[in-house]
Amino acid sequence: MKKIILLSAAALAIAGCKPPQLGKASIDKVLKAMTLEEKVHFVIGTGMAGMDDGASATVGATQKIVPGAAGTTYPIERLGIPSIVLADGPAGLRIDPIREGDENTYYCTHFPIGTLLASTWNQELVESVGKAMGEEVHEYGADVYLAPALNIHRNPLNGRNFEYYSEDPVVAGKTAAAYVRGVQSNDVGTSIKHFAYNNQETNRTGNNAIISPRAQREIYLKGFEITVKESAPWTVMSSYNKINGTYTSQSRDLITTVLRDEWGFKGLVMTDWYGGDDGAAQMAAGNDMLQPGTQLQYDQIMAALNAGTLSEEELDVCVRRCLELVARSPKAKKYAYSNKPDLTAHAAVTRQSALEGMVLLENKGVLPLKDVKNVAVFGCTSFDFIAGGTGSGNVNRAYTVSLLDGLKNAGFNVDERMKDACLQHIADEAAAFKAGLPDDGLSAFYPVPRPTELIPAPKDLAAMAHANDVAIITFGRNSGEFFDRTSADFALSAQERKLLVNVANAFHAVRKKVVVVLNIGGVIETASWKNIPDAILLAWQAGQEGGNSVTDILTGAKSPSGKLPMTFPVNLMDAGSSANFPIDATNEVYFLNKREDVGQKDVDVTKYEEGIYVGYRWFDKQNLKVSYPFGYGLSYTTFEYSAPAVANDGTTVTAKVTVKNTGSVAGKEAVQLYVSAPAGTLDKPVKELKAYAKTKELAPGESQELTLTFPTSELASFDEAASAWKVDAGTYTFLFGASSRDIRCTATADADAAETPTHTVLLMQ
Ligand code: BGC
Repeated sequence: MKKIILLSAAALAIAGCKPPQLGKASIDKVLKAMTLEEKVHFVIGTGMAGMDDGASATVGATQKIVPGAAGTTYPIERLGIPSIVLADGPAGLRIDPIREGDENTYYCTHFPIGTLLASTWNQELVESVGKAMGEEVHEYGADVYLAPALNIHRNPLNGRNFEYYSEDPVVAGKTAAAYVRGVQSNDVGTSIKHFAYNNQETNRTGNNAIISPRAQREIYLKGFEITVKESAPWTVMSSYNKINGTYTSQSRDLITTVLRDEWGFKGLVMTDWYGGDDGAAQMAAGNDMLQPGTQLQYDQIMAALNAGTLSEEELDVCVRRCLELVARSPKAKKYAYSNKPDLTAHAAVTRQSALEGMVLLENKGVLPLKDVKNVAVFGCTSFDFIAGGTGSGNVNRAYTVSLLDGLKNAGFNVDERMKDACLQHIADEAAAFKAGLPDDGLSAFYPVPRPTELIPAPKDLAAMAHANDVAIITFGRNSGEFFDRTSADFALSAQERKLLVNVANAFHAVRKKVVVVLNIGGVIETASWKNIPDAILLAWQAGQEGGNSVTDILTGAKSPSGKLPMTFPVNLMDAGSSANFPIDATNEVYFLNKREDVGQKDVDVTKYEEGIYVGYRWFDKQNLKVSYPFGYGLSYTTFEYSAPAVANDGTTVTAKVTVKNTGSVAGKEAVQLYVSAPAGTLDKPVKELKAYAKTKELAPGESQELTLTFPTSELASFDEAASAWKVDAGTYTFLFGASSRDIRCTATADADAAETPTHTVLLMQ
């Protein structure tokens, strides 16, 4: 009997006893049956297609289950452990649209970018978009969707801000939570990313972010905390960067103590692709899975096990979580995916959802368009709309509706005389740009800048102004993974400005109006030119139906109800973070070979000297003028706020306000609840967002009472000396805002002092 117990798992198999099978036997039994080699393979992915550096840990195990997916997990057939598929996100599923020798297509819906979704201030709507995305994940055979992405918009120039939501952690966290609930309602997983402090692309795999514990807790971690607590994502993806000297994927403080012990996260943590530099340290930190997996990581873990610096028990903790993830996946349940998600229904979802996130910045009586038949369109982007950003956040869609097509679809006569020249110009400039790229293996990822604009001759412009009822000019911006934007990208170019001025002069001369549409993924300068056109619609990058969505707003089929989830500053350098951001740093890409740390400011080391004063917290504190404040957005109607009331029962703060549509068309209003704390021991922002809600579509004259709630404990600030969350006793003022700088009414409530200690001190370097 003793002898039998001592037989190894492999020997048992040879002896003809079938080893325990995942899904049939308990996780405990499967774990016990795994050899050490199997365990180490299992916590590492199966390598990545196209990476021919010989680094794949598991040659022979790689399976092309869903071509174009970012990663797969290590299968162990003898234990019934399938390989599960991990695929990007976040604007839709990213897989290859065509397959060799297969005449079917596998296009996915390109939904609006993250920033647009956050601009809806509508959690229900975001959840419904997530539900549609999750259906594509499920039906195309993926198991975990590498989304949503919710890093804070610390600076306007972060090249991936388009994937992210907001400068405010409550907007980021609530939007991400709604998205996760929607996706996961399809029985597939999500991976909320990038945990955490991934706020720049420049040297992203080596950058050391120096951030105070208070700013970490209140700004950079808060959104993740909300998402974990309100939506239970299956997985979390750690980030590339270091925090105060340690890679996030190797920080036990972050991955285990804060995420699991404090917030109660029960799922799996995976690295970002090739993130960190020590597989054994990642296991010890509780970073359960390493993606896409390298031989080096395998060797590091084995060496640490042999040397006794990593115990098998520690490894088992990670192996168990990997087993739990695989066990709950569609693949383990043998889900028979159709490869036929309802793309027609999802095209309608993206078209409708995009409407709610477009932000009307200016409107001098021109929108919605009335008595307009003939429209002149300018700006090369009008003919080649940008659906979303580049890099892993790109989606291989079947089409993108341009503004030109959207207007035609709605029955306008569009003056197309700029079209051919513009499309040729875009193609020429893109080809020239690509030809000049460095040979660094990443040519597919460089976002092609929008072309210099084409400006019609004065005679042609005068003719167009004469022949048309209105002019629409689109300005576009493209950005994406690996690259931060530049200060030139932030500004309007000389050509764009000239186009705007010339078109405005020509059209205004014959008393015709000019509308600017911004097809952009991040903040640009607006203060110097916003008075020239008659309206500005911030359309963001609105997904594959973009041109139709913009047209629906222009015609008034829907009143705009999007509001800004970030501030538009007057100048780039006004932002608190701009003093410590790699503005126009040489953007060499350090992907696999990590850059040698020479201490270069903002490239190797970025000190977040602005602390908690990010976004409106900074502009309010400094009393700075902004171009458009956080929370701002116009409508075709007007709203009146009344009957503000707030109660605090010690557990929950409940605020109520009545909103009435006082205009002449139907519309929705996003109401923001800010809190102003009484003077206490800690320095406090002037005000902070704590909750928000959107009305239903209110008919003219109709009212709705909104109830906004949040836990009383959220009145706390983080006290570094005590490493505890502290609520000061006193009277708090609650501000009901149409934006952060348009407070409509207030109410007060008292709170008692409270202190909640944390489990760890997040050390400074
Ligand atoms: C990105 C992640 C993405 C992963 C897999 C990384 O380069 O930072 O957001 O999920 O690649 O494609």
